[in-house]
Amino acid sequence: MGAFPATRMRRLRQADWSRRLVQENVLTPNDLVWAVVVSDSADPTEPVAAMPGVERLGLKALADAAKRAEALGIPAMAIFPHIDPARKDDAGTEALNADGLIPQAIKTIKDAAPNVGVICDVALDPFTTHGHDGVLKDNVILNDETVTRLIRQALVQAEAGCDVVAPSDMMDGRIGAIRDALENASFTDTMILSYAAKYASGFYGPYREAIGSGAVLQGDKKTYQMDPANTEEALREVALDIDEGADMVMVKPGVPYLDIVRRISETFGVPTLAFQVSGEYAMIEAAAANGWIDGDRVMLESLMAFKRAGAAGIITYFAPRAAEALNG
Ligand code: PBG
Repeated sequence: MGAFPATRMRRLRQADWSRRLVQENVLTPNDLVWAVVVSDSADPTEPVAAMPGVERLGLKALADAAKRAEALGIPAMAIFPHIDPARKDDAGTEALNADGLIPQAIKTIKDAAPNVGVICDVALDPFTTHGHDGVLKDNVILNDETVTRLIRQALVQAEAGCDVVAPSDMMDGRIGAIRDALENASFTDTMILSYAAKYASGFYGPYREAIGSGAVLQGDKKTYQMDPANTEEALREVALDIDEGADMVMVKPGVPYLDIVRRISETFGVPTLAFQVSGEYAMIEAAAANGWIDGDRVMLESLMAFKRAGAAGIITYFAPRAAEALNG
């Protein structure tokens, strides 16, 4: 049964119509979340050297970007702040400022494009002088002290109108603590997207330049982010976060971790998002700029790979370009 020549796999591949008919996965703008860097100094924009084509956006430029996202059918934007170094301190206090850059950015997007979802990182690294995601004391990142601050940061975001809070810090117990705090404050509809399986990765390099935390980062993040060698641990992280109240979970980085996306989406059946991170973007852009690959083609192929692996959505810096290509 099924042996050649009765079976010729190429029959179905011979024409565009038959290839389209049997295509198993589909990528549309609905699958994309646009990762955007906002800045309190960009006016209107500043280039990010390690990420050609990506700019830090001031609030005016952010409003235009939100309208562009809406017009392209991109469901949501994920915003990451570049903070004036003068506003940083050891404990990341600026993260709790209700009039800070992120609350302003949330309102800017909601005013410009009310139907675009807003996703905010919950973590202290853009706001700390040492570049870590938590409170640092005697070279240790303090878990519970950090969670106390993350709760307040998430509440500030929810208060400003953020739809989805996305803790990216990898502290233990933060999803449950944030969920309780949101319920108690009557933010019962605020979604939590947990960066549940987040690895200590070299692929975040360009991001740290983009938000200005790279130059200041002391040491590495291996005491809180996961070891790239591990899979079973990712499943435990996800199970805990779902129990604690996560609505969606995320795997990060993206393409090098598609095996993790597959395991998680199959095991739990919760919406599993994947983050095509800054280093993945930079590699594609660098090779394309050298004429070594066809940048648009590789962009779309890499995004389709996430869908094939079972991702419900992809956070990517390519979102507007990909949506334009998909909308043809
Ligand atoms: C930090 C955070 C990071 C990214 C998103 N949130 C970097 C890090 O953990 O050091 C990386 C995003 C990217 O590389 O595109 N809370």
